[in-house]
Amino acid sequence: MSVSTRGKLNIVIVLGGLLLLALYFPYLWFGVTPFGSDTEFSDAEIAAFLDGKELPDFYAQDLPDITADELSEQKAAYSWCRFCHTLDQQGHNRVGPNLYGIFGQPAAVVDHFPYSDVFVELRDQGLVWTPDNMMEFIGDPHDFAPGNRMRYPPAIMYEMCDKRDRMIVEYLLRMTAPGAPSDETIALPELAEGEQPFDPCA
Ligand code: HEC
Repeated sequence: MSVSTRGKLNIVIVLGGLLLLALYFPYLWFGVTPFGSDTEFSDAEIAAFLDGKELPDFYAQDLPDITADELSEQKAAYSWCRFCHTLDQQGHNRVGPNLYGIFGQPAAVVDHFPYSDVFVELRDQGLVWTPDNMMEFIGDPHDFAPGNRMRYPPAIMYEMCDKRDRMIVEYLLRMTAPGAPSDETIALPELAEGEQPFDPCA
């Protein structure tokens, strides 16, 4: 049985379509892009972005004393972010940039990270990360920076709430500070049998 030319063409179109979808899907869902960039800002260039901005040292401010269990809950609140971000000083970029020392740092200056044009514009407009604008950003990333590449919140089964955002920002303040312990050393909450995972929005 011979396959007609038209039949062959259809197969090529379907396979081509599947290939395109396979290439596009990681971008659509996770913001993954194969187009790396070699951005690297010197300390002097970063200082120039901060010029004229009187910002406190956010890491020098006191944070509430919390128990080890409460710290575990903060780590759990941050779980989705961890898919795409590392917090340690030597942490590499994942789908998102490394966040070590993010507070008081201009937007979009992490080495070798391919930021979207929207983020580059925010940097050029002088955005510097503070706990307040971080709350605003993660509360609605696509309102804060329309067209950005960060796929958060996840598309399904994810409730957003201020309490989670506050826990995440406090966790970031603790874990991206100079001299902070590695995020890997913090335990997640222990679950008793049949217990539901910790839900900050419950
Ligand atoms: C699916 C992957 C993904 C998840 C989940 C994610 N991010 Fe991101 N994040 C990114 C990407 C990609 C960018 C860069 C966006 C751009 O260039 O448009 C980014 C950018 C950022 C930035 C700006 C960094 C800079 O250098 O200016 C911060 C801060 C940030 N994310 C924090 C968070 C926090 C906190 C969470 C959890 C609430 C989170 N992200 C969840 C992928 C992700």
